Amino acid sequence: MTPDSYDSSERFTLDDRLPVDHLERALREDVQRGLAERPRWLPPKWFYDARGSELFEEITRLPEYYPTRAEQEILVRRAPEIADLSRAASLAELGSGSSRKTRLLLDALTERGTLLTYAPQDVSPSALREAGEALCLDYPSLHVRATVADFEQEIVLPDTPGPRLLAFLGSTIGNLDRDERAGFYARLRRRMSGDDQLLLGADLVKDPQVLVRAYDDSRGVTAAFNRNVLAVLNRELGADFDPDAFAHRAVWDAQHERIEMHLVAEAEQNVKIPALDLRLDFAAGESVRTEISCKFRRESLEEELGRAGFTVREWWTDGPGRFALLLVVPSR
Ligand code: AVJ
Repeated sequence: MTPDSYDSSERFTLDDRLPVDHLERALREDVQRGLAERPRWLPPKWFYDARGSELFEEITRLPEYYPTRAEQEILVRRAPEIADLSRAASLAELGSGSSRKTRLLLDALTERGTLLTYAPQDVSPSALREAGEALCLDYPSLHVRATVADFEQEIVLPDTPGPRLLAFLGSTIGNLDRDERAGFYARLRRRMSGDDQLLLGADLVKDPQVLVRAYDDSRGVTAAFNRNVLAVLNRELGADFDPDAFAHRAVWDAQHERIEMHLVAEAEQNVKIPALDLRLDFAAGESVRTEISCKFRRESLEEELGRAGFTVREWWTDGPGRFALLLVVPSR
């Protein structure tokens, strides 16, 4: 008989907490609200259908897009310290996607011998299943408790005994503006107990030229990623956007210290969105903001975390200081 610990089906569970029509409803609401406002905008989460996720993976390999490699560099170097400092019995991850970078943490935590459970949370059941099953094969004693949920709605931490480490990597935090971040930290703080810790990846303010290039690469991968959101609207809502009639723009907003991605109508356009019974008129040059990607400074980041009841225990950067990984604990 196979020992229970080698049976991946026993060690993998998937808890789908999204109502069947959640994504469809949320998309309709977001499109209805955002495209009616001036300036028009869409939330970045709608980039990530299968094609969009593929394009994002390609972005992470672009020479201009440094954040993934910079964070990876820090993780490689600091994973043993993270394991020692957290002594985590479980590792939870928000927006885990392919769980690729997570393996560095899983390696260090299993080596240290404390880790029993990995609890990834994502909106994509297929990504969770794929990643979870692969991890069960590679980590023969690990229990994977996956949850399908939207972290903007709920944050699910495993109810396992012992300290938990919650990872929120890739500077996804940058997609939230100041107020949204405050709300997010507050919800997170309420979920965490005194011995839990947060591992947060944050991209840092730097030369605007470097930043703009990271979001407007020479091969046009980011442009395709940006336009893909229109293909999502066409498919899901029966809209008739012509993605090629919109130009990709990445701009540095110095006041808010953030990159904004826009899609700019190159000529006047009328777009129908039958599922919403909507007709939109775009003037030539009119833009839709599709993403904000905030960049951080140590002082203000420590301050906003402090206001939410957190203390920064460790601040690590990559060699050139482009990206930071923070180990954050509830303030005592
Ligand atoms: C996954 C949100 C961190 O803001 O850098 C990459 C997404 N957008 N290129 C980022 C993204 C354009 C990325 N995050």
